Amino acid sequence: MKNTFGQSVSVTLFGESHGKAIGAVIDGLAPGIEVSEDFIESQLTKRRPAGKTGTARREADKFQILSGVFEGKTTGTPLCIIIPNEDTKSRDYLKTRFLARPGHADYTANCKYHGFEDYRGGGHFSGRITAALVAAGAIAISALRPKGIYIGTHVMRCAGVSDRKFENINSDLEKLNSLDFAVLDDTAKDKMIKEIEKAAADGDSVGGILETAVCGVPAGVGEPWFDTMESVLSHILFSIPAIKGVEFGAGFAAADMRGSEDNDDFIAENGKVITKTNHSGGINGGITNGMPIIIKCAVKPTPSIYKKQNTVDFSKGENAELLIEGRHDPAIIHRARVVVDSAVALTLCDMLSLRFGTDYLSGGSI
Ligand SMILES: Cc1cc2nc3c(=O)[nH]c(=O)nc-3n(C[C@H](O)[C@H](O)[C@H](O)COP(=O)(O)O)c2cc1C
Repeated sequence: MKNTFGQSVSVTLFGESHGKAIGAVIDGLAPGIEVSEDFIESQLTKRRPAGKTGTARREADKFQILSGVFEGKTTGTPLCIIIPNEDTKSRDYLKTRFLARPGHADYTANCKYHGFEDYRGGGHFSGRITAALVAAGAIAISALRPKGIYIGTHVMRCAGVSDRKFENINSDLEKLNSLDFAVLDDTAKDKMIKEIEKAAADGDSVGGILETAVCGVPAGVGEPWFDTMESVLSHILFSIPAIKGVEFGAGFAAADMRGSEDNDDFIAENGKVITKTNHSGGINGGITNGMPIIIKCAVKPTPSIYKKQNTVDFSKGENAELLIEGRHDPAIIHRARVVVDSAVALTLCDMLSLRFGTDYLSGGSI
């Protein structure tokens, strides 16, 4: 499928950066799930740029739910949310129409859509589309919370500055969900912001690593082969623009460990099976083991920078120089954390519905 993800609970994204609106359609979600417009708004606020660390494009994200919600609850039928685009400056993109931005999707979009693509502001490839994913994800998060499933992401590293690791995951998640710039060590925020602003002053950009924890997912969810929990989660995470690496648990570091270090000892505790360590990131054989799911995502530096770059004018097949004029984020990472939470929530709704049936997430009957 092209712009649709999920088997039992699916999400379809539509729209372009400078078109009339962007949006999402969620289908297959259980009826009776509480839909709070205030919560959707608060999630969108976490993604919205602020200060010098974000693009100067300021969208109010005045979303509208067109269908699938009645009297504040999901009906179980397709739920469509649209978010109008209001702060567009399309002229900035006209001059560089055929100059491929290095690191961006202008050239590949042209190869696929033969020049019919809406190139303004990156069109359908723009980070702007992730606002629709966040709006849909807010509803997925609302479906998971009553089941005791909580998700949170922190900026683990940005421009060489590190945050502290997760310690008490439950209280760490609570803290993260109340923050606009999600770090666990309060002193890391200012250091990261300083580095982002330094890069911005140089006309440059920076990237980093996001770390996500998910608590409360029951053991036994996921398939042993192609729809392993890792493969389905990484499928959606790699769809988020600028995410270039995904790891679970110890991830690539496990390659340097001995089996005796990497293996997570099982322990029986109060009638539950847990593990002493969590190098497997809560997943064994593609199936959740009941421990927190731990994911790391590498986020690259924003491709649109304000330095002179070499490129190709793909309408002429000639070498060219590029100086970008549009408005761009000097870093994506702090805005992307809520996009990751949303993508993970939508995936879990899908995987839990596949495993236990659609009504598993239902708000019950009246
Ligand atoms: C929240 C968010 C905001 C983004 N903002 C920008 C931006 O302002 N300028 C830009 O060039 N890329 C931005 N991107 C990244 C591009 O959309 C992305 O790098 C591009 O589509 C190419 O995809 P790829 O990096 O996955 O190959 C943003 C991504 C996200 C998730």
